[in-house]
Amino acid sequence: MKAPKAIITGATSGIGTGYVNSLAKKGWNLIITGRRIARLNKLKKEITQKYHVNVIAIPADFTCDEDIKLLLETIDYEDQIDLLINNAGFGQNKNFFENSIEEQQKMLKVHITATSKLIHHVVPKMILNQEGAIINVSSLSAFLPASNSYYYSASKAFLVSFSESLHIDLAGKNIKVQVLCPGFTQTEFHSRQGLGEAKSWLARKILWRSVDQVVNKSLKSLGRKRIICIPGFVNQCIYHILNIMPKRYYYYLASNRSNLVNPQNQKTVEAEVIASHTH
Ligand SMILES: NC(=O)c1ccc[n+]([C@@H]2O[C@H](COP(=O)([O-])OP(=O)(O)OC[C@H]3O[C@@H](n4cnc5c(N)ncnc54)[C@H](OP(=O)(O)O)[C@@H]3O)[C@@H](O)[C@H]2O)c1
Repeated sequence: MKAPKAIITGATSGIGTGYVNSLAKKGWNLIITGRRIARLNKLKKEITQKYHVNVIAIPADFTCDEDIKLLLETIDYEDQIDLLINNAGFGQNKNFFENSIEEQQKMLKVHITATSKLIHHVVPKMILNQEGAIINVSSLSAFLPASNSYYYSASKAFLVSFSESLHIDLAGKNIKVQVLCPGFTQTEFHSRQGLGEAKSWLARKILWRSVDQVVNKSLKSLGRKRIICIPGFVNQCIYHILNIMPKRYYYYLASNRSNLVNPQNQKTVEAEVIASHTH
């Protein structure tokens, strides 16, 4: 029997590498992507030697249209893709008015454009093969709009809604869809934004998950009834509370939190808005 094949974007660290290890261990052949070429090739070598699976490594920066095009062309040579994991992503811990529009729109290219192009390209193959699965990695932030994550929360919310539409369309065609919404996960995601992990042991224990916990929950839940997959009991409670909490309370809490975290925030935003309207 032919080994199943998966595409994993953002494979060079964190949750992406977690998926790579977990699937390779089960004998899956893989197509992996990321910008850091040395890491990508090292991972390919390690996985190939350890699990004797076929790995194709394709360096790609998803803010670059040409790179996405090359990735799609490589996929054209594949007649069978069983699982597509759209995991590549990043955060920007800056307020909308403190960051250039051009910089912020790169996030839309990675989270939205690359993801939807890959899905558009791969699903017809799955339909032909009469089976397949898609995991889109969103975030708990999709349900938590905040002052320092306009584009992050909005683009992750897009992925939730988009995945639900996909599920409605593809469930009858034997194609499983999951949108994974992790909370804090121990990866390079926060340090790359200049942020640290929670200092208190209790916060780390209650709120933070390991990559293995997140990836295991995702792969175990794929194909079950719930399309939105939220690893961690506390994160699930937060999600359910948000669903029933009147929005005005959420806005009050979120604006106070952002002013507490950064008391300069309100002043900076006001100053930026005034400056942009007077120039
Ligand atoms: N860690 C958390 O607390 C957390 C919580 C909720 C959701 N998430 C989501 O989980 C996903 C994985 O993040 P992670 O936590 O594993 O962080 P990570 O270790 O920083 O991994 C992010 C991955 O995305 C790739 N990537 C980033 N920008 C890219 C670009 N322009 N083009 C192509 N690939 C790019 C990175 O590869 P290169 O740098 O090599 O390109 C890397 O492999 C992200 O979508 C993130 O939003 C994370």
